[in-house]
Amino acid sequence: MARILITSAIPYINGIKHLGNLVGSQLPADLFARYMRGRGHEVMFICATDEHGTPAELAAAKAGKPVEAYCAEMHAVQAEIARGFRLSFDHFGRSSSQRNHRLTQHFAGKLAENGLIREVTEKQVYSIDDGRFLPDRYIEGTCPNCGYTSARGDQCDNCTKQLDPTDLIDPHSTISGSTNLEVRETTHLYLMQRALKDRIEAWIDSKTDWPILTTSIARKWLHDGDGLQDRGITRDLHWGIPVRKGDTPWPGMEGKVFYVWFDAPIEYIACTAEWADAHGLEDAAWQRWWRTDKGADDVTYYQFMGKDNVPFHTLSFPATLIGSGEPWKMVDYLKSFNYLNYDGGQFSTSRGRGVFMDQALSILPADYWRWWLLSHAPESSDAEFTWENFQASVNKDLADVLGNFVSRVTKFAKSKFGETVPEAGHYGPQETALIEGLDTRIRDYERLMDQMEIRKAAAELRAIWVAGNEYLQSAAPWSVVKTDPDQAQATIRLSLNLIRLYAILSRPFIPDAAWAMMEALSSDDWTWPKDVTAALGALPAGHAFAVPENLFRKITDEERAEWQQKFAGTRD
Ligand code: MF3
Ligand code: ZN
Repeated sequence: MARILITSAIPYINGIKHLGNLVGSQLPADLFARYMRGRGHEVMFICATDEHGTPAELAAAKAGKPVEAYCAEMHAVQAEIARGFRLSFDHFGRSSSQRNHRLTQHFAGKLAENGLIREVTEKQVYSIDDGRFLPDRYIEGTCPNCGYTSARGDQCDNCTKQLDPTDLIDPHSTISGSTNLEVRETTHLYLMQRALKDRIEAWIDSKTDWPILTTSIARKWLHDGDGLQDRGITRDLHWGIPVRKGDTPWPGMEGKVFYVWFDAPIEYIACTAEWADAHGLEDAAWQRWWRTDKGADDVTYYQFMGKDNVPFHTLSFPATLIGSGEPWKMVDYLKSFNYLNYDGGQFSTSRGRGVFMDQALSILPADYWRWWLLSHAPESSDAEFTWENFQASVNKDLADVLGNFVSRVTKFAKSKFGETVPEAGHYGPQETALIEGLDTRIRDYERLMDQMEIRKAAAELRAIWVAGNEYLQSAAPWSVVKTDPDQAQATIRLSLNLIRLYAILSRPFIPDAAWAMMEALSSDDWTWPKDVTAALGALPAGHAFAVPENLFRKITDEERAEWQQKFAGTRD
C-alpha cells in the first residue's frame, strides 16, 4: 500500500466556479483520489477556498457584507456544491484559517532568517476616495501608445503594450471611478527568488517524467527576459494574513498582509493540519504527509491545476519550501490542464458566460457532468463544451452502453430466473474470450489511470462497457433460453457479475451510478479486480439482486435546445 497525497488548486472564494474551473483541477483530482483509494492505497486529498486578495474584498463589498462573513458564507456554498459533485476531499479547508496564518508567518520568518527576504520601497497609486492602494488592474485610463481609453494599469488590451499605471493618461479607479489618485511610497517584502534559481532549476531538471506543458512553462519563467525575478510577497490591504516573522512583529510592516499567492499554496499544508484538528489528531498526523523528517519521505505527492497556475507551483511555492531550509515534502507529479471553452467562446466568471457548477447540478445529476467533463478533459489541447456533444455522450455512453446493459441484464434475469443469481450452466469459449479481453483492457485502464491520461482512461472504460454489451448481444440469452436454459443461466450469472465489475471500475468517474449498481446487487465488496476471473465469481449462485431504477436517462432534443437557449447569455 502506497501513501498518496493529492492537492487540487484551491478555488477563489468570490463566486461559484464554472465547469471549466471544475475540470481543470478539482474534478480530475477527485477522479485520481477515488481511483487510488479503489486500488487500496492510503490517500490524503486536500482542497480549500482561496480567500484573500482584492477580488475577495471587492466581492464582499458588492454583496454588502463584511469580508469575514462573506467568505464564511461562500465557503459553505462552495463546500455544498462540491458535495453535490461528489468531490471526495478529505478536507475542504480555508486559506483564512488560523492554521494558515501561523504557517504562512512561520515560512516568512524562516525565509527572513535565511537571508531570502529584502525590503523594497516603491511608488504605487493610492486612491484617496477608495481609501486603498490600487493594484494595477484596478486602474484604467487612456493608453499613451494607441489612445485606447480603457487601457489597464498593467497592460493595454488594445495594442498589448505593457504599461505602468503612471503611464496612463487621465487614470481612474475602476472600483469607484474616482480620479482622485496620487502616487505614494510604500515598502514591501520581496522573496529573493533569484538567489534560489539554481536550486529550483536543478529540482525542475530532475522531473524528467513531467509533461512538456508543465516543464516548458517553468523553463520559460526561469529563462525568458531577465530570468526568474524576486517577487513581492506583501500587500497594502486589510484582509489577509498580517505580516509577521513567525511569532514576532515585523517592524515597518504593520498593517500590511501577505500577498494572496504567497499564502494560498501554503494552505495545502495548513489544510492538512485543519484536517487533523477536525479529527482531534496530533500534529504528527498531518506532518507524516508533509515533513520528510516525520514520515513523508514515502509519500507520493500529486498536484492538479490549470495551466495558468503552473508558474506558482513550479517556481514560487517551491521557492518558499526550499528557501525555508526545512524538510518539506515537494510535489512529485504536477498534472496541468488546458482550458475548456464554452460553445464557441470562453467560459468567463467576470462576464457570467457558460454553465456554473450550481446551474449544472440544477439540471442534471453529478454523474452526467462528471462523465462528459472527464472524458473530454482539456489535456493535450483546449477542449470545447457544446450541448450537442454533451447530449451525444450522455445518450450514447451512459444511457445506451452502460445503463442499457445493466437494465437488460437485471430485467431479463428477474423475469426468467427470479431475483437471485442463477446457478446452472458452465462458462465456455465465449466467456473465456470475454474474460481474456477484459483482463487486457483492465490492465490498460489501470496504466492510463496511473499516468493520469484521463481521456484515454475514459475511452478504455467505455470499451470495457462495450465489451459486455457485445458479449450479451452474441450470447443472446433471450433466444438461447428457449433451447438451452442452462446456457442462458450461465450467461446471466456472468453478466450480473460484470455489473459489479463495472461498478468498481467506473466508480472514480460516476460514483453515484456505481453505488446504485452495487446496491442493486446487494454487494459492498469494492475490492479492485486484480484477478478478473475471481472478480467475476464474486456474486455466487443464489445471491440476491434487484432491478435498479434506470441509471441514466437520455437528454431529449427539446431539453438540449432549451438549455442551449437558457445558457446562451450571461448570468448576473
Ligand atoms: N485560486 C487560484 C486560482 O483559482 C489557485 C490557487 S492554487 C494555490 O487560480 F496553490 F495557490 F493554492
Ligand atoms: Zn494601447
